[in-house]
Amino acid sequence: MRQPREFTCFSYDEQRALRHDDSSLGYLYLLKEDLATQNGYNLSEGYDRFIQRDAGVDEHLDGLLVALTKYEKEHGGRKTAGDIVTWRGMLTKLMCLPFEKDGDSTFEMNITYFDVSCKCGVVLKSKEYKSSHDEPEDDRRQLMSYWGYKFEQIATIPKPWGECTRDEIEKRTHKPVNNNVQYCSIIKSGLGSVRMIVGGEVDCAKDYKPDEQRDNPDNDAELFDNPLDHYVELKTNQVINHDTGARNFEKKLLRVWAQSFLLGVPKAIVGFRTREGYLQTFEEFEVQKIPAMIKKSKFYHPRNSWDGNEAIAFLAACLQWIKTSIPAEENGEVWKLRYIARSDYLLLMKAPGQASFLHPDFVEWRKE
Ligand code: A3P
Ligand code: MG
Ligand code: MG
Repeated sequence: MRQPREFTCFSYDEQRALRHDDSSLGYLYLLKEDLATQNGYNLSEGYDRFIQRDAGVDEHLDGLLVALTKYEKEHGGRKTAGDIVTWRGMLTKLMCLPFEKDGDSTFEMNITYFDVSCKCGVVLKSKEYKSSHDEPEDDRRQLMSYWGYKFEQIATIPKPWGECTRDEIEKRTHKPVNNNVQYCSIIKSGLGSVRMIVGGEVDCAKDYKPDEQRDNPDNDAELFDNPLDHYVELKTNQVINHDTGARNFEKKLLRVWAQSFLLGVPKAIVGFRTREGYLQTFEEFEVQKIPAMIKKSKFYHPRNSWDGNEAIAFLAACLQWIKTSIPAEENGEVWKLRYIARSDYLLLMKAPGQASFLHPDFVEWRKE
């Protein structure tokens, strides 16, 4: 794996409008004292005011492709070379597949080729199958999902600590939680011989984000303040008080590790909550140490536990296979990558007649 490097970023604001800056990046602000009430912090607080992103809108790869286009136009018009352009979430899904045992993991991804001239490869976007859950479970799922966003709200402030007023810090939890707001980092990295351009949401920076995104950090490697080194992934999990809980958490760490690893995010903070959604404590994890932690765990079992190297090798093989299987065509057709839960196959097939999902600005720019 080549070290990921951020070369641009973008934000979605409260109305889901795209901004070419880091205005939606949060900054870590998490105090044990805030949780020191009798029951912990009630993560359901404000659920009735939750402003939810419209899940019915298919955003394709728009934010990523529009930001990439803008970056290229502003940096000498040079078109970024790469073999795969995608959201981090797609790669996480593939990477975790060898260890996926539950029945909910069916997915389909759309793939298309673009830009023969500059040898830029395939882009992946997903269409997930919705699993069918009955009403009560849906309600609880929604509430649990809210807890994740509420945790992000209480754990972050809108500017670096030194630039925030006392009021901004104290009132950070007063606004409704709004999951339209996101900050996304766009990185270049490589896996085996596959060059990747990947966009992914970053939950917060632990202190600040370095001002400059330099084009060539190797010139000044020692002085280079890498933005990725400052990023933190936030998660929630049920408080662990029995072996089953510990085993489930170790399983969940696969996704936490994979998604952070892919963007080069070095730290994950997990907020532990009760079954009823009261946040009681939190713990920091160094992302690169998570796979070894799993190996050392008393629950480790070579057949049932996950293995970081295997996950990376599997993803590398998948991407290599996709890269070599999708033909280079000027007007690339749409292909589908399909996985049916619990099957042993990944299927790659043409989807004749399916319209391209690339953003028109990107297509126009790449034609020039
Ligand atoms: P947790 O992270 O505590 O699970 P992410 O962790 O990827 O930054 O996502 C932030 C939160 O969004 C999650 O909190 C969860 O609450 C919610 N979320 C993410 N993916 C989801 C999904 N597929 N379904 C429901 N909620 C989801
Ligand atoms: Mg997130
Ligand atoms: Mg998170």
